[in-house]
Amino acid sequence: MLIDTHCHLGYEDYDNIEEIIKNMDGIMIASGCNDKTNKEVLELVNKYDNVYGTLGIHPEDVDNISEDSFRFIEENISNPKIVAIGEIGLDYYWVSDNKEKQQEIFKRQLDIATKYNKPIVVHSREAIQDTYDILKQYNLKGSLHCFSSSLEMAREFIKLGYKIGVGGTVTFKNSKKLQEIVKEIDIKDILLETDSPYLSPEPFRGKRNNPSNTYYVALKISELKEIDIKEVLDTTSKNAIQLFDLNL
Ligand code: NI
Repeated sequence: MLIDTHCHLGYEDYDNIEEIIKNMDGIMIASGCNDKTNKEVLELVNKYDNVYGTLGIHPEDVDNISEDSFRFIEENISNPKIVAIGEIGLDYYWVSDNKEKQQEIFKRQLDIATKYNKPIVVHSREAIQDTYDILKQYNLKGSLHCFSSSLEMAREFIKLGYKIGVGGTVTFKNSKKLQEIVKEIDIKDILLETDSPYLSPEPFRGKRNNPSNTYYVALKISELKEIDIKEVLDTTSKNAIQLFDLNL
């Protein structure tokens, strides 16, 4: 089975969401990032059987939230199709003048995940050490989505109980570091994702991405690890079902 563990299905990005969802022969987990997209995620999971969701405040959105944002997450976290808190984390690449605020909002959501015993979907860009130092203080599990750090750090996060989210970038020619990580770590520690509508895998690089392209991520991983694509799909699906407690 194909499971896209991380995508964004915003109405702003797609004028044909229904078609995109129906074309996906598998499961997708849509992540919210702010008030607007969290509401959209909730709508989608209630409407489509094969869409699950996560609610969270993305580090790029920490300046556009209110107490209501947290209230909305807590009010809906027990919806059986909301499977994690995310997309949350730290991003010092796009915005680096509010590090403390990002950390505060990140921790607040880690507290919510702890309170409701939910996994998390983590975004970390140019902030891997701070992300690690914070997560080390918690006893949570989750996905390091679109992992972009070193093999050493991947191993440290796996030790903490996290899975490594691998998406379309693994198919890019210049992604040697990520390809090396995929070769070295156990398939049991990998989750497939697309991060749609961004980061389309080859042969669609540069075009708008969609969850069905998870297949091309799996194909590349099977090439790198020299294992059958069926093993990639079976094992990574099992990883996702266990981590997010998917009730299929
Ligand atoms: Ni994302």
